[in-house]
Amino acid sequence: MNSEEINALESSGFLNLTGQTALIDSKPVTWWAEEFGLPLHVRSAEIIKGNIQAFKNVLQKYYPHSNIHFAAKAFPYPEMLKLIASEGIGIDAASYHEMRCALEAGVPPHAIGLNGNAKEDFMIQEAIGKDILIIADNIEELNYVNHLAQGMHKNANALLRVSGFNVGNVTADEVLTSNSWTKFGEHIDRVKKSMEQITGFSHINLQGFHAHVGSQITTLEPFQLVLGELINLGHLLNAHGQTCQIINIGGGYPISYFTQSEWNDFLIRIKKGDFLWHDKLNKIEIDHHNQIKRWIGEQFYTAFPKEKMLAALLQSQVMINGKSCNVLQALHDLGQPLLIIEPGRSIMGDSGLTLARVSHTKTVNLDHHLTILEMGITNLGEAFFGPSARKWTILTDHQQKDAQPFATFLAGNLCYSGDVFSPYKCLLQRKPKRDDIVMAHMTGAYDQYFFASNANAFARPPQLLSYGPNHIITVKKRDTYEEITGVI
Ligand SMILES: Cc1ncc(COP(=O)(O)O)c(C=O)c1O
Repeated sequence: MNSEEINALESSGFLNLTGQTALIDSKPVTWWAEEFGLPLHVRSAEIIKGNIQAFKNVLQKYYPHSNIHFAAKAFPYPEMLKLIASEGIGIDAASYHEMRCALEAGVPPHAIGLNGNAKEDFMIQEAIGKDILIIADNIEELNYVNHLAQGMHKNANALLRVSGFNVGNVTADEVLTSNSWTKFGEHIDRVKKSMEQITGFSHINLQGFHAHVGSQITTLEPFQLVLGELINLGHLLNAHGQTCQIINIGGGYPISYFTQSEWNDFLIRIKKGDFLWHDKLNKIEIDHHNQIKRWIGEQFYTAFPKEKMLAALLQSQVMINGKSCNVLQALHDLGQPLLIIEPGRSIMGDSGLTLARVSHTKTVNLDHHLTILEMGITNLGEAFFGPSARKWTILTDHQQKDAQPFATFLAGNLCYSGDVFSPYKCLLQRKPKRDDIVMAHMTGAYDQYFFASNANAFARPPQLLSYGPNHIITVKKRDTYEEITGVI
């Protein structure tokens, strides 16, 4: 394997699989299980900080008039947002509590962007009062923000979120947010036609435009298309007598969950259909004529992971008024607006791992191996909305390997048939046995909490943030019986 392709969990040394005992931040995996119980989510603060620094370096190099707003939704807890504040970057908040959490963590109001497609009055009013940048989801909302600002005798600083771009099927539908069939943003054609209206609000200081292509966007083209269109809208804003001061291009910078060769193997195996749960998986397209299957969901490998996608974008070309133009030149021609990015997954994803205990191995549909874990799909967010791909490793006696990898589906402990972590067979080093500890790699963004619930009255696992073996912070503790059941 190309050393560049080893993921940050291993290359940083946070996960050390070189010796007899698997170590996480220098402590044996059994220590973590005994100290905190299983299942368990752990993240590395050092990896998170490294990711932030990498984005800072790219912006410093290519376009210093820029801000990073960490998408709090990737891990919206006080201890995390304190880390963000100490790194001197801003926050993309999408709810009242995310905004409050950012403010209490010490993020200055001017470094917060308020997103969200259903903002409550009290949230808008607090943002207006504190001069927080409001990213209006659509023209109706802009109108409403204007109304509230008028009532407060203040002007609101705002961007308008735009969608309706012809970006194609560039990620899973559930996390694609910039096409025409999305609940987010105002369609670009309507924005163009409504310039008089959106520049005419008496109490709105419209500073520019926002778009978020979607999450895990593994190719450059959608970013180029959307950035070019936002710059075009900026010129239109200027032509209407205002100044485009901000272009916010959102998040979506992808991470590689697999090496290129692992991902290629995965696609080949899908094509042959030799390891699928069944043919009805919603991310599989079946070509009956050629008897092949194709993966059409989210891509789990990219040639431009994390900040490399941003660097590629800033060095690429965009279409400005029908002509191809270098991105930096295009921004320059617009008057050097502040460029805001909102990375979430690319800051958090490869910082985290999830540990769970094996219950047992059985067979499904007579002769396919199925390994059952003592953890439910609610603790691995992406698997909840369709087949996602994560790498799994047995950490107990992790160097013990069978001659052939053990190909198995993985499922959880909920009374819910969709509780399948891995609806394609993943390859473990050997056949797992009861009480083995297995690890899902790279679960640091969204996975660990976004869809977490107390389904079947199971406790949600603790979430830990490790600054090193002697400084482990419990960001969120395991639920107690009383918390789960509401018994006081
Ligand atoms: C408006 C907005 N910005 C940024 C993000 C972060 O996206 P990602 O985690 O893919 O970087 C999201 C995620 O859905 C979002 O909705």
